[in-house]
Amino acid sequence: MPGAVLLVAATGVALVVALLLLLYLMSPLDHPKPLSLSGAHVVVTGGSSGIGKSIAIECFRQGAFLTLIARNEKRLLEAKKEIEKFSVNDKQ
Ligand SMILES: NC(=O)c1ccc[n+]([C@@H]2O[C@H](COP(=O)([O-])OP(=O)(O)OC[C@H]3O[C@@H](n4cnc5c(N)ncnc54)[C@H](OP(=O)(O)O)[C@@H]3O)[C@@H](O)[C@H]2O)c1
Repeated sequence: MPGAVLLVAATGVALVVALLLLLYLMSPLDHPKPLSLSGAHVVVTGGSSGIGKSIAIECFRQGAFLTLIARNEKRLLEAKKEIEKFSVNDKQ
């Protein structure tokens, strides 16, 4: 009989520990940390126009370093010039 009580208690403790572990592992989903792009290096494929350029501008405004990838060099250089207006520090 004491063995059965011990087994039930151990199972209860194991369930509580498993529940706490699950809550701990899921906590980043509930309170996600904001992503800091300051000083990060972001590579944007298709960064010379459209959605890619908008993403590049937003990353640059948040202090990221950028590498833009596209085929047309002229459009890439135009995008670079436009994006550089959104610089937030001297290092960019
Ligand atoms: N805009 C929308 O509302 C929308 C909606 C749904 C899906 N999409 C999709 O999202 C993507 C981007 O849309 P967008 O409106 O931003 O288009 P976009 O203004 O035409 O921009 C496309 C970018 O990708 C580059 N690119 C194209 N082919 C490439 C290749 N083979 N290698 C490297 N770079 C390449 C282009 O530069 P180069 O031509 O110089 O290489 C340009 O920088 C497209 O696939 C589009 O179909 C867009």
